[in-house]
Amino acid sequence: MNIDGKKVAENVLAECEVEIKKLAEAGVVPGLAVVLVGEDPASQVYVNSKVKKCGELGLHSKKIVLPVDARQEELMRVVAELNADEAIHGILVQSPPPPQIDEEAVVRAIDPRKDVDGFHPENVAKLVLEDSTGFVPCTPAGCMRLIAESGVETSGAEAVVVGRSMIVGKPMANLLVAKGSDATVTIAHSRTKDLAAVCRRADILIAAVGRPEMITADFVKEGAVVIDVGINRVEDATKKRGYRLTGDVLFEDVAPKCKAITPVPGGVGPMTIAMLISNTIKAAKLRMG
Ligand code: GUN
Repeated sequence: MNIDGKKVAENVLAECEVEIKKLAEAGVVPGLAVVLVGEDPASQVYVNSKVKKCGELGLHSKKIVLPVDARQEELMRVVAELNADEAIHGILVQSPPPPQIDEEAVVRAIDPRKDVDGFHPENVAKLVLEDSTGFVPCTPAGCMRLIAESGVETSGAEAVVVGRSMIVGKPMANLLVAKGSDATVTIAHSRTKDLAAVCRRADILIAAVGRPEMITADFVKEGAVVIDVGINRVEDATKKRGYRLTGDVLFEDVAPKCKAITPVPGGVGPMTIAMLISNTIKAAKLRMG
């Protein structure tokens, strides 16, 4: 079975619309600021689709683009202004920034109550502590929703997360092991010995490595649920734009073995934006008290 991320994201956004209406009745319009440093084509696409979605849902949004050679202080000033801006409930600085930027310092400068990415140490701590007043990073939050959609029982299941990034791998592992999900979780990464054998233990396999199509059928147990977080551009001369998008999973090879699998595109991607909108609404509600 293919898990239709587009459809699940539409359901999440329909729930968001109900909340947005309620907030509007209370005179509150949730506002999201998206900051992009540089001109990375993929980041531009992501940032524009986030802003567009805000517009469609009647949220306030602000897009701030700084030049690729922007200095740290310039970006810190932008963050400070957004922290102070009453119309803004959520702030997202698109990752990865250019190399002269100290990303960790930027993340720490964001008001944790506006950190809709869930990257600030205070929100990371709340995730680990299972304190629901924090923000959960959007991509892993979306993956959890897709796992629920697959119908697989997470309690007691073996989950293997391939990738240990702060954006996906680590928060994903925390969500899977948290009370209520109750999976047995392994975090694998580039130094893991016999990665294929580790992955074959998984009832739930999360691929978040950023390596096109590296997860092949020999990594996957019969009947597993596979969530593909990768969005990789690979050259393809047959395509007008010169590339195609592919996941970390070799889909055609793996899909026949799966109970459920997310395609790329149309799997995790649409969920990330939906969870971002959901987090922005949560930020607005938290401020109202
Ligand atoms: N780059 C890739 N995914 C994300 C995300 O969820 N948030 C931010 N800020 N940057 C990203």
